[in-house]
Amino acid sequence: MKDKIEELLNEIETFAADNRERVEEFRIKILSKKGKVTELFDEFKTIAPELRKEVGQKLNELKNRAQEKVNELKEKFENKENGKIVLDLTLPGETIAVGSRHPLSLVRNQIIEIFSRIGFTVSEGPEIEDDWHNFTALNTPPDHPARDMQDTFYISENPDIVLRTQTSSVQVHIMENSKPPIRTISPGRVYRNEAISARAHCQFHQVEGLYIDKNVSFADLKQALLYFSKEMFGEETKIRLRPSFFPFTEISAEMDISCPFCKGEGCNICKGAGWVEILGCGMVDPVVLENCKIDSRVYSGFAFGMGIERITMLKYQIKDLRLFFENDIRFLRQFKTVI
Ligand code: DAH
Repeated sequence: MKDKIEELLNEIETFAADNRERVEEFRIKILSKKGKVTELFDEFKTIAPELRKEVGQKLNELKNRAQEKVNELKEKFENKENGKIVLDLTLPGETIAVGSRHPLSLVRNQIIEIFSRIGFTVSEGPEIEDDWHNFTALNTPPDHPARDMQDTFYISENPDIVLRTQTSSVQVHIMENSKPPIRTISPGRVYRNEAISARAHCQFHQVEGLYIDKNVSFADLKQALLYFSKEMFGEETKIRLRPSFFPFTEISAEMDISCPFCKGEGCNICKGAGWVEILGCGMVDPVVLENCKIDSRVYSGFAFGMGIERITMLKYQIKDLRLFFENDIRFLRQFKTVI
């Protein structure tokens, strides 16, 4: 029986075909139910038990080799007849599933688009930052209490390196590397050491805005933000600025918009207030300008920072922040708009 196996193996190895039909004939002859390999398997049932192990192994190898050979030959003649390629162009094509943009990307793109209409460019900075750009240059020295406002991811080997907690760090890069007038927004991911819940996450997205020129005033800030709010949430939207504190702005404010759902009447989204907070802003502190080698006697500017998740949740009435990061296709599929 070993000889028969050897012989058949030889036949398989030396077989050559010049078209698909010959390959099929070969497959039937060797591998079909009445083929030579099957015949040998039948014969195998009758051999002496002490030979079973060795012969069985050889037989299996033979079968695998035969299958391999058939596959190789089939592949060679696939879509080919007498060496010429034949394609059936009437066959229906494969449909490509069209995805949809992530809601955070949709809103980020919309923010970029709105500000680009009033002359803002887009700039980016690194997510792994040094202490200077994330804190110190932004008027937040090591012992400043404002550092407690943000639970920061530090790198244990090097306390100078942090995952940026705010896109305000990009302001510093831009001011260090370019000359006024500067008018730019910086969208990007930020990190904070927070427990994950419906309202907080350890990573989220912000857009920073910065405008530096001669004679930039708080009125310019207010007007730019009013324009943005109307474009984003509708023409009837009102804004309200409340005094606040940020180390890198003087004066500082937080901005509310009239609730886009109840139009200011009070509902469960705005918790009856009629207003919802959407961003922080202010006039760039002269100390920050000087830290970045910009003459604060000549130039002034405004800055603002908003969370993209927050804007998106308001726009689409999303109640749980975690949905943005779970990548559940049933959630993502609902955002069909393509921009
Ligand atoms: N960086 C602030 C934050 O993460 C947001 C912010 C507030 C940015 C005021 C600014 C600003 O540019 O002027 O909470």
